[in-house]
Amino acid sequence: LSLDAVYQPIRADLPKIEAGLGAVGRVSSPWLSELLAHGLAGGGKRIRPALVLLSAKFHHYNLSYLLPMAVAIEVLHTATLVHDDAIDHSSVRRGHPTVYHLWGEGKAILLGDYLLAKAEELVSETQNLGVIRLFARTIMTIASGEITQAATAFNLDQSREQYLERIAAKTASLISLATRSGAVLSEAPERLVEALGEYGYNLGIAFQIVDDILDFSGDEAKMGKPTGSDLAEGTLTLPAMLLLERYPADDNPVRRIFRKEGDRPENIKRAIDLVRQSSVIEECYQAAAEYARRAYRNLEHLPDNDSRQALRELVEFVVARQK
Ligand code: IPE
Ligand code: IPE
Ligand code: MG
Ligand code: MG
Repeated sequence: LSLDAVYQPIRADLPKIEAGLGAVGRVSSPWLSELLAHGLAGGGKRIRPALVLLSAKFHHYNLSYLLPMAVAIEVLHTATLVHDDAIDHSSVRRGHPTVYHLWGEGKAILLGDYLLAKAEELVSETQNLGVIRLFARTIMTIASGEITQAATAFNLDQSREQYLERIAAKTASLISLATRSGAVLSEAPERLVEALGEYGYNLGIAFQIVDDILDFSGDEAKMGKPTGSDLAEGTLTLPAMLLLERYPADDNPVRRIFRKEGDRPENIKRAIDLVRQSSVIEECYQAAAEYARRAYRNLEHLPDNDSRQALRELVEFVVARQK
C-alpha cells in the first residue's frame, strides 16, 4: 500500500501544498534562506497536511482556507522536528544532515521559532478563531509533552499510562489537530468534527507506537533517520518497557543504560538485539493495532466516500510502514 494511492482523492491539490511550502522558504535573508532550505527539504511523508484536506472532503471543500491550514500544519510539524533533533542530538533526518548537526543548537532553536511563528501567521489566514486557538493550544501541548519526556529521561519508573500520555501530547495532538481543523474549516456538523478529531488522535497514538518500534527494528536507510536513538536519549518507549517486564534481571541492557552502567553503545546494541529476537515487537504492534481499530471505528460515523476509504487505508499504511 503506497501513500500515493492513499492520497488519490486529493492528488490534484498536493502540488499546491508543496508550492505553499516553497513560498515559506523564499525570504530575503541569505542566512535564514539557507536554514529554511534545509529545514523544509523534501522527503517527508506529508501525512498531516494530507489529513487536513482529506478531513475536509465530507462537507464544503474550500481551498482558500484549507490550503493555508495544511501548509501551516506541515510548517508546525517541521518546527517540532527541527527542535526535536536538537533536543535528541540527532544528526540525520529524511536522509539529510539536520540543522542541528550543521549549524548547532542555537540556530536550530531560532529556526524552529521562526517556523512556529510562520505557521501561526498562516493559520490566521483561515480567519477562524476556534482553529487559531486550537493551533496555539496544540503547540502548548506538544511542548509540554516534550518537556515531560526530557524531565523523565533515564527514569525507569514509568507506567504505560504515562507513556501513552506522553505520546498523545507530543504526536497525537498534532495529527488530531490536522483532522479536526480540516473538518471545522469545511463547516462539517459537530459530530463529524468529533469523529474526525478522535480518528486523528487514535491514528496519532498508533503512529508514534510504530515510530517507537521502528527505532528498534527499522532500517536506517529506509527511514532516513538513525535507530537506537530513543535508548541513547533515555526515552522509555513501549518496546523498552516490555523488555524490562520480560527480563527483570539487573543485567537487562535497558536497565543498565538507564542506570548509566557499562558501555552505552554496547548496551544499546544488546537491547536492540534482544527486542528483535523476542516477541516484544509483535506485542507492540498489537498495542498499535488496538488504536488502529479505534480509528476505524471513528470512521464509521462518517458518510462513505473516497476520502473515508483513504482514511481507512492511511490507518493500514501507518501500522505497516517501514519509514
Ligand atoms: C516524525 O514524523 C515525527 C514523529 C512524530 C515520529 P513523520 O514520520 O511524519 O515525519 P516526516 O514528515 O514523514 O519526515
Ligand atoms: C517526535 O518523536 C515527536 C515530536 C514532537 C517531534 P521522536 O523523537 O520519536 O521523533 P523522531 O523519531 O526523531 O522522528
Ligand atoms: Mg527525535
Ligand atoms: Mg522516534
